[in-house]
Amino acid sequence: MDPRPRHRRVLFAAAAAVVAAAGAVALAPTAEAATTLGASAAEQGRYFGTAVAAYKLSDSTYSGILNREFNSVTPENEMKWDATEPTQGSFSYGSADQIVARAKSIGAKVRGHALAWHQQQPGWAQNMSGTALRNAMLNHVTQVATHYKGQIDSWDVVNEAFADGSSGARRDSNLQRTGNDWIEAAFRAARAADPAAKLCYNDYNTDGQNAKSNAVFAMVQDFKARGVPIDCVGFQSHFNAQSPLPSDYQANLQRFANLGVDVQITELDIEGSGTAQANAYGSAVRACLAVTRCNGITVWGIRDSDSWRASGTPLLFDNSGNKKAAYTAALDALNGGSTPPPSTATPPPNTSTPPPSTTTPPPAGDGCTATVALNQWTGGFVATVKVTAGAARINGWTAGLALSSGSSVTNSWNAQASGSSGAVSFTNVAYNGGVNAGASTEFGFQGTGTGPSTATCASR
Ligand code: XIL
Repeated sequence: MDPRPRHRRVLFAAAAAVVAAAGAVALAPTAEAATTLGASAAEQGRYFGTAVAAYKLSDSTYSGILNREFNSVTPENEMKWDATEPTQGSFSYGSADQIVARAKSIGAKVRGHALAWHQQQPGWAQNMSGTALRNAMLNHVTQVATHYKGQIDSWDVVNEAFADGSSGARRDSNLQRTGNDWIEAAFRAARAADPAAKLCYNDYNTDGQNAKSNAVFAMVQDFKARGVPIDCVGFQSHFNAQSPLPSDYQANLQRFANLGVDVQITELDIEGSGTAQANAYGSAVRACLAVTRCNGITVWGIRDSDSWRASGTPLLFDNSGNKKAAYTAALDALNGGSTPPPSTATPPPNTSTPPPSTTTPPPAGDGCTATVALNQWTGGFVATVKVTAGAARINGWTAGLALSSGSSVTNSWNAQASGSSGAVSFTNVAYNGGVNAGASTEFGFQGTGTGPSTATCASR
């Protein structure tokens, strides 16, 4: 189903290294942590959504998980052009309306997907071209956005309009052949029909920095400069061994956010199983949380068996609806960063600079010392800090670190952070303040810019 050209093989080792570093800390979530994905995301001012198929709403296992866990839904196929306008000028909203009604009843947002796309067009549109197709597309956008006016949080106005590979070109399609301005025309029509909905451009293979995402970036920059209405960019984030979570995922989300648009992870699924899959989910969630304008994450289905690529078991619930390790990792990440247990598998080759040694002996006197293991990549880092008690037990600690100018802390785990730039400090939380003589505990934080390599420690 998804034999798309992939271009990120070289980034795998770096991505895995980030995952490995982040996985080095394992502690239970705090007592007050939210217990569902949606509730936890809401505490962070975000949503956690899923793709939904209308015909599965009558499945009680499916519906039970949907109602319990998610606070946003995306119709998986029901709002696409072939579903909503099967015959030109004659609209059919039944299945999509069912999903919107369910969303309302559970207090979930709706992501509209997708108004204009080269795939899943009705036959009549596939056979059109030129002005007739342009007008049919604009009428479609206007009619559908008007039908759902006021009910959609974010619309994928245009989906997958750029070519894969190094060209940075638009994808050839019947829509593209109506003229290069088809995308902005679609966005203007959507804004006129539903001024309250956020309007997104959505694509795949744009999750890291590459020729394709650079081309989308240039389009968004141009739209902002010329006043073409665009509010958000969706990153589909379909990951597998050939196309892993890129090491610069967060940096890429951040550079788009810096253009003045929201960013959303719109179709997340990560093929795999066990700890590796769990770690990747944790990393993806943390990347979003670290970007202020990343306002939501949607996974592309509920159970593995619901997935469009079920054989890759890429989702958070197994075929029976049980929570997988990936679920726990995603929830833990949402709950402030406690990370899944370290992998017992052989770590993948690490191409990043090795962290400084953390094996300094405990200090002879009282008090504590702190050492930093730094995983640095272009534009960002994860620092794992080890706090070691001296000759006597300590009952609390504060580690101090100096961030270089322009660098800042974006999130932390297993410690309470104070300050996000310049001199920052981290104090123990309830469960890790007490450290026996010579023993250690670890906390971590993630940031943009360059991470510090040393830390001071004060004990209580
Ligand atoms: C997929 C659906 O999950 C399948 O049920 C359908 O057969 C094909 O489309 N990118 C997108 C989604 O934007 O709409 C696609 O959804 C997956 C890839």
